[in-house]
Amino acid sequence: MKRLGIIISGRGSNFEAIARNIRAGNIPDAEIAIVIANRESAAGLEIARELGLKAICLPSKGIDREAYDAQLIGELNDHQVDLVCLAGYMRLLSPPFIRAFPMRILNIHPSLLPAFPGLDAQHQAFEYGVKVTGCTVHFVDEHLDHGPIVLQAPVDVLPTDTAETLSSRILAEEHRIYSEAIRIVLSGRFRVEDRRVILED
Ligand code: GAR
Repeated sequence: MKRLGIIISGRGSNFEAIARNIRAGNIPDAEIAIVIANRESAAGLEIARELGLKAICLPSKGIDREAYDAQLIGELNDHQVDLVCLAGYMRLLSPPFIRAFPMRILNIHPSLLPAFPGLDAQHQAFEYGVKVTGCTVHFVDEHLDHGPIVLQAPVDVLPTDTAETLSSRILAEEHRIYSEAIRIVLSGRFRVEDRRVILED
């Protein structure tokens, strides 16, 4: 059984989709070992507890990044986590954290990277006027929203869209591809050549 550690900051809908896909048997041989939020107000903590999962808050406010990340590493190791999934975690990770889990950290980002990294990617794309945007699941490296891409899904921008309607269609695709990317990574049926993740399925 592969053990996932999920790190969130807020709503937790991507985490919930992963948890429900594991329950439905769509991510074989996986279990969620721990859910960690860096804010007490993260709604995802309550969702995790309702699902009967271990969920803790490690408040990050006012703590130096490396000291905080050392706490995260400690919790993840204590729970023998094989794969770390960032699911709406809104802090940068320090290089020691990345080195503690080499090619074992995934992130979901609500744009087709490398377009629109950083905060509010859906609004950035909407305001830029692109016709197609989407979402990306990628391995995390030491740069923001940058590591090798596992999966992407495109989403058309419609003439009738607002940033909110566009965001909700992107979110539906996030919920789909994050679980699929986790399934692929846990299966080990891929190889990485430079930046290219080559799927062997
Ligand atoms: C998601 O849209 C996720 O892609 C985004 O935050 C949202 C979290 O929602 N992440 C980033 O922008 C990371 N740079 P959720 O808490 O409901 O999963």
